[in-house]
Amino acid sequence: MNDFGLDNYLKLEAKQQPTWYSQEALAEARSSLSKQPPLVFAGEVDTLRSRLADAASGNAFLLQGGDCAETFADATADRIRNRIKTVLQMAVVLMYGSSLPVIKMGRMAGQFAKPRSSDFETREGVTLPAYRGDAVNGYEFTEQSRTNDPARLLQAYNTSASTLNLIRAFTTGGFADLRQVHAWNKGFTDNPANKKYESIAADIDRAMKFMQACGVDSNELRATEFFVSHEGLLFDYERPLTRIDSRTNLPYVTSGHFIWIGERTRQLDGAHVDFFSRVRNPLGVKLGPTTTKEDVLRLIDKLDPEREPGRLTLISRMGAGKIRDELPKLIEAAKESGSTPLWITDPMHGNGITTKNGYKSRRFDDVMDEVMGFFEVHRALGTHPGGLHVELTGDDVAECLGGSEMIDESTLEERYESVCDPRLNHMQSLELAFLVAEQLVQSARSSKA
Ligand code: PEP
Ligand code: CO
Repeated sequence: MNDFGLDNYLKLEAKQQPTWYSQEALAEARSSLSKQPPLVFAGEVDTLRSRLADAASGNAFLLQGGDCAETFADATADRIRNRIKTVLQMAVVLMYGSSLPVIKMGRMAGQFAKPRSSDFETREGVTLPAYRGDAVNGYEFTEQSRTNDPARLLQAYNTSASTLNLIRAFTTGGFADLRQVHAWNKGFTDNPANKKYESIAADIDRAMKFMQACGVDSNELRATEFFVSHEGLLFDYERPLTRIDSRTNLPYVTSGHFIWIGERTRQLDGAHVDFFSRVRNPLGVKLGPTTTKEDVLRLIDKLDPEREPGRLTLISRMGAGKIRDELPKLIEAAKESGSTPLWITDPMHGNGITTKNGYKSRRFDDVMDEVMGFFEVHRALGTHPGGLHVELTGDDVAECLGGSEMIDESTLEERYESVCDPRLNHMQSLELAFLVAEQLVQSARSSKA
């Protein structure tokens, strides 16, 4: 049987893999994962690829958002609902402003593994293995919790399954009905971004009532597609969940619809690029400020050899001060290659700072500035600014500085919950959506001019 070279990665260098406490426990976990049902289906993955092809050609916009690191403890109904609500609200703002279809995608139901810059963490003289995400070890700073335990891979699978089940229920069972646009804003109405949202919601309401009066009652208004994605990092999770689809006879990663390769694992001759090049899922690659033109050309050759629209999404995360200088040459390189990748902006990961009181944070102004830079570059080159990739939560946390609520360093001490990178809170997420909607309108005008 053709195995599509899926195990070729074993011969290559795989960065960021945990050292598990027991090989026997690992073999057991992998064998058990390989017998679990798929979380997503090949048909859904193919649908997503065609949606992303629309975005790559300028006819849709991708909104991808969620936690930096999901945790098992936070996979509760309330928290999942709040995140979905935030993404749905942002999508409404974007759709209403730009009149483009918005593809909704969570960094959800699988975002349990993190690359780390160091294998160890030292606190007050005690050194323990770094936290690598709930799929590997626990955040609590004790020896037991920081032990890399393969049984957690199965827990990651199970938590992803229950998260996805709830996502499917919320997005197809009435909650995502466009007649609920006001309900998504409940509990948030007293801040400026939410007030602005209310006025859009009122317009949509009127349009919905008008359509109802005309007798239009389409399924598209009652339910929405919602895709899930995560960083493809751990081979001990992804390989056992990769299956050959019986219809197409091709391999699919069934742990999520969309998989991206991170900035730290995108080496051209490394295990990650090799493994994911062999599956049919649409793929993303993060591109940091050191990315060269040649990197882009070679990544395209490996990951999108057929030049298939929708196959490859390039996620730039340059930092506000660098995007205007670094991005244009990469876009030109992609043009030269004959590929039509979907270009999206991650305005989070190039803008990290550490505050004086010791928090990992990001300035909302820098996030906005990188988004502006992304749009400016695409406008200048006549290419489509195709999407937004953000770390967000639907909860009222204080992790990123600024925004109209003017979160300052001392507020971080009160409402900082992230176990990894700082996320935009509900209001900052909505504010960002308004900015992006305005930029999309401007880009549409300049492409017509
Ligand atoms: C992330 O998306 O959380 C991440 C680690 O990003 P990057 O690979 O861009 O650093
Ligand atoms: Co992150």
